[in-house]
Amino acid sequence: MSPSPVTLQRDGDIAVLLIDNPPVNALGKSTVQGLIDALAAFQADATAHALVIACEGRTFVAGGDIAAFEDPDFSTVPYNSFLGRLEALDRPVVAAIHGTALGGGLELAMACHWRVALRGTRVGLPEVKLGLIPGSLGTQRLPRLAGPEKALQMMSTGRMVGDQEALAAGILDELCEGNVGDVRAAALQRARTLVAEGGAPRRTSALPVPTAGLAPGFLDQAVALAEAQFRYPALAAIARAVRAAASAPSFAEGEAAEAREFMGVLRTPQSQAMRHLFFAERQTGKIPGLPRDLPLRPVERVGVVGAGTMGGGIAMALANAGLPVVLVEATPEALERGLGLIRRNYEATVAKGKLAAGVAEKRIALITPSLAYEDLSQVDLVIEAVFEDMALKKDIAARLGRVVKPGAIIATNTSTLDVDQIAQASGRPADVLGMHFFSPANVMRLLEVVRGAKTDPAVLATVMKLAPRIGKVAVVSGVCYGFIGNRMAEVYMREAEFLLMEGATPAQVDGAVQTLGLAMGPCRMLDMAGIDVGAKTVIELGKTGGLPQDPSYRALVQALFAKGQFGQKTGAGYYRYEGRTPLPNPDTLALAESLAREHGIARRDDISDTEIVERLIYPMVNEGARILEEGIAYRGSDIDVVWTAGYGFPDHAGGPMCLADQRGLAHVVERLEHYARVRGNAHGYWSVSPLLRQRAAEGRPLSLGAN
Ligand code: NAI
Repeated sequence: MSPSPVTLQRDGDIAVLLIDNPPVNALGKSTVQGLIDALAAFQADATAHALVIACEGRTFVAGGDIAAFEDPDFSTVPYNSFLGRLEALDRPVVAAIHGTALGGGLELAMACHWRVALRGTRVGLPEVKLGLIPGSLGTQRLPRLAGPEKALQMMSTGRMVGDQEALAAGILDELCEGNVGDVRAAALQRARTLVAEGGAPRRTSALPVPTAGLAPGFLDQAVALAEAQFRYPALAAIARAVRAAASAPSFAEGEAAEAREFMGVLRTPQSQAMRHLFFAERQTGKIPGLPRDLPLRPVERVGVVGAGTMGGGIAMALANAGLPVVLVEATPEALERGLGLIRRNYEATVAKGKLAAGVAEKRIALITPSLAYEDLSQVDLVIEAVFEDMALKKDIAARLGRVVKPGAIIATNTSTLDVDQIAQASGRPADVLGMHFFSPANVMRLLEVVRGAKTDPAVLATVMKLAPRIGKVAVVSGVCYGFIGNRMAEVYMREAEFLLMEGATPAQVDGAVQTLGLAMGPCRMLDMAGIDVGAKTVIELGKTGGLPQDPSYRALVQALFAKGQFGQKTGAGYYRYEGRTPLPNPDTLALAESLAREHGIARRDDISDTEIVERLIYPMVNEGARILEEGIAYRGSDIDVVWTAGYGFPDHAGGPMCLADQRGLAHVVERLEHYARVRGNAHGYWSVSPLLRQRAAEGRPLSLGAN
């Protein structure tokens, strides 16, 4: 048997309960059992006059074992009754906190009679981020310490609060300077003082919930507001649990209310989806076949070629992480324009109060503008972000291949071009891969890392490791048109346009998709990104023979482009714009109708929201299954990360693959077959991917972490 992560030691007449469960002292079955045993030992030993609870390593208990929630027998009862017995002790119990006390860790601290924390400690109840609520009396004890308003605010956002704020709110009792040893010494000192004073222990559960300063009906209103946010059922569960804390006649009844609410949210599809994403994001860096100890290449200095929309954003993302950047442009004008945009971006962030002016200056100073490729000779990584033009990209790859030092990595931000061809042009394809950022590149979290046929595994591993440093979640994609995200988006846009030609309005299409919780439907999205950008990719794809033999394929976007209606920037696209407000555009409706006539597409007036959602989302799922089949993505969960981190797919739906699993893959297959029948399948739009069919038959999910 492995030694318990919990030990009970002595410091004179005080018992010290130590938790040592690296890396973050998370609670799991063995820790909870260790706590129960240690408490029993303390109770049996009357010679110890008080108990101090402390943690080894870098932090106090920073949460629970999230995988345990998937266990059908999971129960909060053993831990919660331990906390009850701990708090009920007649001898003082003092928590010595350092690092972060999160989730079950803060719940442990709140069950103690006194909380001493090291300066710099942060506390929080982040369960809501997994679609859950605190399940170990956090909803009952936090309102007693911090008041219901603060407690609600903390639990509904999952935000961590700093030491001073926690002290002022009454969550912590005392701060101490120094190190882990000092906080333990301060806790022992406090325990001795409490023993000497001989007063009754101050039990959090015995405190009243302070409601005096609240507006009348505040808690009922908080519940009503939270219930309106029905896509996140945990919000309402938190609000109801806090209301119960304030109104239940006894702590035990509040406890029962929390338990009911916790079990209620644990099995919601929303929480399951959010937990799926939590694990999915932690999996993306695991690359099959790559040795764990592969030596990585150093990345301390970076170059960016092209200071346009993307290059500027990429330079900012790098500078924000403290990396010096050489930013190369073709002309002084373009360089000045790019730098101006970067400066204005930082100034806007400072003006909003989100960044100190001094910090912004330091970041700008990290970016060295240049017109000479030779200035890139000493960088460890260079990211090319020039126009989407194969001849230009090949030319630049060749120049970079010559100029950057041996061992440096060459990346391209292309969104549609063949990374292998660009790699070949560099003359050193092992050093090349794609780093596909999303706009705005300093904001969007997703980075698709495109693995070329000849990319050195160490190059791939280095870039995957760099991603979190620059605030990105990276997903590996193989080489194919559009990689993972845009390839799937293409079928989504295809169906959106067919629906418009059949007679749906842009508002109807967007509205239907938005019922899933996507912030923006396809028409709004393309109007914002630019009809010209969207149309050009279709036209370019046509030139390389990549389009189906279907003249009606994305005919609308091409017609809008031809008319100079580029979306929001020209005041008209799928919608007409007054400022940023989209309004119905009768011209576009007429255009869709005339294209339908031209291409023999039947007009209908019976298009339902259900049909819109099924026709937009299920082909995407089908394309995702093909992407898995072809080995373009390593795992279904990676695809879900692409869509939630890069395309605004809502976290409570978990991504398209998770959504398909939750709705049932057999149902998805049945609907694809249905549309093949009613719409015809001359171009293979509705042909079911063999992998999807197989998973549906086996009852195995598509969103699995490992395939
Ligand atoms: P952009 O037109 O805003 O910027 C391109 C920049 O490259 C211009 O400033 C231009 O002066 C510069 N440039 C051209 N030739 C050059 C040369 N020989 N040396 C140095 N600089 C040169 O274009 P954008 O939107 O930034 O796109 C750049 C790349 O990023 C393209 O490959 C595009 O497909 C890709 N991309 C674009 C996204 C977007 O949303 N705009 C998203 C993801 C990728």
